Amino acid sequence: MTANTNSNEHVNLYEPHEWKHSTKVAGVTWKNPVGTASGTFQYAAVRWFYDVSQLGAVCTKGVSPVPWEGNPSPRTTEGPASNLNAVGLQNPGVDHYLVDDLPKLKKIGATVIANVAGHCDEDYCEVVAKLADCDADMLEINVSCPNVTHGGMSVGTDPVALSKLMDKLRPMTDKPMIVKLTPNVTDITAPARSAVEHGADALSMINTLLGMRLNIKTGEPIIANRTGGVSGPAVLPVGIAAVYRVRTVLPEVPIIGIGGIDTGEKALEYLYAGANAVEVGAAALFDPVAPLRVARELDDLLDDRPELAAKLAAGQTWR
Ligand SMILES: Cc1cc2nc3c(=O)[nH]c(=O)nc-3n(C[C@H](O)[C@H](O)[C@H](O)COP(=O)(O)O)c2cc1C
Repeated sequence: MTANTNSNEHVNLYEPHEWKHSTKVAGVTWKNPVGTASGTFQYAAVRWFYDVSQLGAVCTKGVSPVPWEGNPSPRTTEGPASNLNAVGLQNPGVDHYLVDDLPKLKKIGATVIANVAGHCDEDYCEVVAKLADCDADMLEINVSCPNVTHGGMSVGTDPVALSKLMDKLRPMTDKPMIVKLTPNVTDITAPARSAVEHGADALSMINTLLGMRLNIKTGEPIIANRTGGVSGPAVLPVGIAAVYRVRTVLPEVPIIGIGGIDTGEKALEYLYAGANAVEVGAAALFDPVAPLRVARELDDLLDDRPELAAKLAAGQTWR
């Protein structure tokens, strides 16, 4: 691995790579099936490690109508093979996103998914109205964050509330709209069906699982929000089962598999479960290059799986 500066915009610690296996999600071609998961990627930091336009897609942190400060600290701790966070969707707001992150990412040729956050339907509408004609390639509606008291997971766990939100958002833009689902439900196929029946072009899953850890010296929760969202290697089987179950009832909808991916093999497992693409989240918190490494590993693994590779390139899936 040698460092080479291939533009004044970023340093690239990896040699350029000729991608062999692309995928298609709701009509959008990704140069490989691996993207970043929202909230675990920050262009300003990651650009010093690699050229992020090499990824299949860059999914950016959730944006709200106005800047949000997020939850009080401490906001993160660890669990067994996992990470617990209650950041609470801190972000500088959609106006900042439109003049800062988005143009920088588009300038280097990245395929961008803009992740949309809200505390109520009006928040989501305000953000989607501002993103409706922007340069982002896809929108991802986050109705699955467990760390906000209003909006987020409260919408994603209620198929009727989700259908009402989608009825408002869908007519606002022609951009491919992904709905990001929560695993904190008994039957994930219910919100999945509701999202698709009310206009979602694709689904992504999973967001984090509700979790908590206590400090045994004080007997109190470690993170200030008390509960948080669990991510990382421990959630892999939950994400795989979610993709498999949704694929079984919705054979046509494009699915992005998320949760616990830190190797090409784990990404491949999601593709065999029926995903069109995957996103890497918590792994990037301790290894910023993880999404690119996973993409490289998967590109080689797909060499030996021509039937799967051909299906993905054509916008189809293994099952
Ligand atoms: C610190 C942190 C911040 C996150 N912020 C967001 C967010 O803004 N929007 C969103 O849809 N998901 C967010 N997520 C969820 C991730 O995108 C992903 O769905 C989840 O972490 C599971 O994937 P992983 O196990 O690979 O991390 C966040 C996760 C973490 C760990």
